Amino acid sequence: MKFTLHTALPTQASSESLWILVDSEQLQQSTKSYKINNLDNFISATQFKAAFNENLPLIAQIEEQANAQLLGLGKSNELKPNKLAKLAQSIIKSSQNKFKEITIDLTALPTNLHALFALSLSQAGYGYDEFKSKKNEFVLETIHLVAETTLLDDAQLNLVHAVQSGQNYARDLGNRPGNICFPEYLADQALALAAQYPDMLQVTILDEQQMADLGMYAFLAVSKGSDRPGRVITIEYKANTDQAPIVLVGKGVTFDTGGISLKPGAGMDEMKFDMCGAASVLGTMQALCEAQLPIHVVGAIAAAENMPSGQATRPGDIVTTMSGQTVEILNTDAEGRLVLCDTLTYIKRFNPALVIDIATLTGACVVALGKVVSGLFTPDDELAQELLQAGEQSLDRVWRMPVMEEYQELLDSPFADIANIGGPHGGAITAACFLERFTRDYRWAHLDVAGTAWLSGAAKGATGRPVPLLMQFLANRAQANS
Ligand code: BES
Ligand code: MN
Ligand code: ZN
Repeated sequence: MKFTLHTALPTQASSESLWILVDSEQLQQSTKSYKINNLDNFISATQFKAAFNENLPLIAQIEEQANAQLLGLGKSNELKPNKLAKLAQSIIKSSQNKFKEITIDLTALPTNLHALFALSLSQAGYGYDEFKSKKNEFVLETIHLVAETTLLDDAQLNLVHAVQSGQNYARDLGNRPGNICFPEYLADQALALAAQYPDMLQVTILDEQQMADLGMYAFLAVSKGSDRPGRVITIEYKANTDQAPIVLVGKGVTFDTGGISLKPGAGMDEMKFDMCGAASVLGTMQALCEAQLPIHVVGAIAAAENMPSGQATRPGDIVTTMSGQTVEILNTDAEGRLVLCDTLTYIKRFNPALVIDIATLTGACVVALGKVVSGLFTPDDELAQELLQAGEQSLDRVWRMPVMEEYQELLDSPFADIANIGGPHGGAITAACFLERFTRDYRWAHLDVAGTAWLSGAAKGATGRPVPLLMQFLANRAQANS
């Protein structure tokens, strides 16, 4: 879906369908650019109030525009960004199968929301039909955005387009089942991406022998239960190698059964989404290539499948990590931190300026924060501010949680340097504290996206979060550099 921007109001219908956003307190003002026959009468007859998300079809009321409708914003100055998604869905759902081009008049929408609204429209246009015999019949290709004044510009629209393609890619990867999307598949995806952008991306892949040679025994403790071998994948985006890179580390557990600490059966299918952190890294790398941001970024993916078997790790097993610290694996279902800790040690070779890991790490994070915000854990106040701000700017919000020293003792083990679980209290925090022990040589933040990376129920599927957040963060950084 492509957006084009028009500051002048269309004198003639430029597309097959026109949506006019309307402020409930400024009905006349919002529609003043259109010759609408008998508008006052029509509105009073239909009792249209332009309440939030209220829709009024206009049938031949606007000259030369057979298909037009008003869409209420309520009081536009009270409109919060989180409501944009609903409006976008109303427009997209009713247009997607019918029109190739539509026009939306944003004039009544506050200018600071224009970019977010474009992003919301692009997100509403996603569908996943890869394994359906009956395919979606989406025909919508172009959305013309019209506004008398706007803060949107071509650079912002480019970013929206890039985020859209990276986020959709991350959603596709997340939605693919575990029998298709397994560690070697993720490695192939990285190679395919690099083949698409050979001048910008460089990929390396570690197999299990190479991991053993490096001493990555926490990682291997997870993947050894599976017949599918694990992989550590790095993708370097080299648009500006003068700078030390920002390293994005994604949890890529392509299916999480829990291992010998087996998960209950109900809802276990959703553990195909346990690679959504990795998907967001691949999606961000793709978006970076499209947006051509002048920045140095390395993506690293810890790809493994967590299965029970005769080879699988037992509760109580002790392994030595690449960092030298020993771990007592009390619960094989706390596998994300095991594959991540060795990957977080491995990426030190890139001399990172900072590291952000993205992981569907804990059910406890879903309990704490639900599905609205991602958990942000970092001891670095400045980095926290940057990520909080990027979250607000991209409609992909995070909420800061503590990673304090006081929680570390919950991870004490009588037999090893550290246990891989911290008991029933503060599960998202103790998971972050576990990772913190492996990140002391660089600036670091951890994003727990267990609640935000996918939805259940009617809207079941991967969300592609936090690609918008990461791209906004990187775009802000690129801008600060220039
Ligand atoms: N992938 C899960 C986390 C998860 C659970 C994400 C539910 C989304 C929904 C992770 O590997 C896991 O199993 N974590 C355990 C940790 C526990 C054993 C300390 C959990 O959250 O139950
Ligand atoms: Mn698990
Ligand atoms: Zn997991």
